[in-house]
Amino acid sequence: MPALVVLGAQLGYEGKGKAVDLLSQEAHAVIRCQGGDNAGHTVITDKGTFKLHLVPSGILWPNVWCFLGNGCVVDPWELVTELGSLRARGVDVSYFRVSALAHVVMPWHRELDRLGDGVGMATKLGTTGRGIGPCYADKMLRRGLRMADLLEPDLDLKLARLHALKSAEIDMFQPRASVVLPPPGKLADALRLLGGELRDFIADTDAMARKFANAGEDILLEGAQGTMLDIDFGTYPYVTSSSTTAAGAFAGSGLPPRELAGVIGVAKAYVTRVGEGPMPSEMPAPLADTVRQRGMEFGVTTGRPRRCGWFDAPQAKYACEVNGIDGIILTKLDVLTGMGPIKVVTSYEFDNDGRDDLPARLYGSPKLTPIYTEVPGWDEDIAGVRDWSKLPDNARRYVELLQRLVGVEIVLVATGPHRDDIIDR
Ligand code: GDP
Ligand code: IMO
Ligand code: MG
Repeated sequence: MPALVVLGAQLGYEGKGKAVDLLSQEAHAVIRCQGGDNAGHTVITDKGTFKLHLVPSGILWPNVWCFLGNGCVVDPWELVTELGSLRARGVDVSYFRVSALAHVVMPWHRELDRLGDGVGMATKLGTTGRGIGPCYADKMLRRGLRMADLLEPDLDLKLARLHALKSAEIDMFQPRASVVLPPPGKLADALRLLGGELRDFIADTDAMARKFANAGEDILLEGAQGTMLDIDFGTYPYVTSSSTTAAGAFAGSGLPPRELAGVIGVAKAYVTRVGEGPMPSEMPAPLADTVRQRGMEFGVTTGRPRRCGWFDAPQAKYACEVNGIDGIILTKLDVLTGMGPIKVVTSYEFDNDGRDDLPARLYGSPKLTPIYTEVPGWDEDIAGVRDWSKLPDNARRYVELLQRLVGVEIVLVATGPHRDDIIDR
């Protein structure tokens, strides 16, 4: 049973990149199962900072297969750029593969994402603008292009049909003149070139993954975004357009679920969110500013400032239930140093009915009041501490409190962005 799922237990930005990098060292293969370049996963090693959008976070270890699975949506322009910049920094990408079944994010998807955000809704979603929703929509409408299509002789024909349809869709939002879509012939040429560059990387990754599993090799399934951004179990409609939860990892990789060895949830010592959508434990502005500055809470993909809030235990508990999380990696504990008293949401009052479970459907309802506990903080610098016993008492008590409230073991605690800033409990 070789497959370990590693996913976000909150709202994205939990530090999945660091967690996956850490766990990849022992893995035979790392597979990204969903999402596209809306994700931004940061890994910091002695070689510097790597901001990955598509390539799995295992890429910095030698001889580890890194797949973009069939459940991902891939902007080939972005992929070629990312592979190029990794190569330029001396990273071996020869073990990278992208699924022939992964859908292609086209320039019209980006335009439609930008133009369509919020149309027909009360507010904008604040998407990353990377074309993710429109690409998944076309996948489900069975009119998408897949990576394998980049290598097929009928690419021009397919593109010409889609180009006409997509231009008409764009026209629905605004006059064609103001949106620059490359003409179909040019687009076909560009995609054939990209196909040529990616030819050796496009593969039947699902079959390869099953072969690895049958040979008993350890496989990491890397999630993007977070549980509360899941298309079904998140704060719909303020979600992304894929299944970010554990079940989605199997649909998105082609491994059978019986290969599941366990699920690791990555959670931050507080919560953050970018874009619209509920975050009941949001901090007041001056406090949020402090956390944002200390935690460098600005989006890897869009640079947008992240909203900051206190750790929400019922939310994390919900994520553990939905995903079957066996252990938690808690990140960014160091950011809470010197914050004074720390608040944690312990439960929610809903219609005056105290409850500690929290269906995402109710998350953010105005009738829902978070109930907090407040615990003493610590002032000692804990950045880079690697030994549990070297943490101040109050920091240890804080971690133990979260573990008690969520009811799942916190197995690792991160105390800094570097690969080695980690405490194994
Ligand atoms: P991901 O999308 O879940 O991989 O997370 P991001 O990479 O978007 O955001 C997490 C940020 O926190 C990155 O800049 C990491 O380098 C950083 N980070 C991860 N763990 C820690 C930690 O324990 N302490 C601090 N200070 N930063 C961390
Ligand atoms: P990683 O993997 C945090 C958010 C966007 C927006 C919503 C929909 O780095 O944690 P989309 O472009 O996906 O249609 O946007 O989802 N979002 C993320 N938030 N981390 C991410 O990725 C995210 N990817 C998308 O901000 O609110
Ligand atoms: Mg990120």
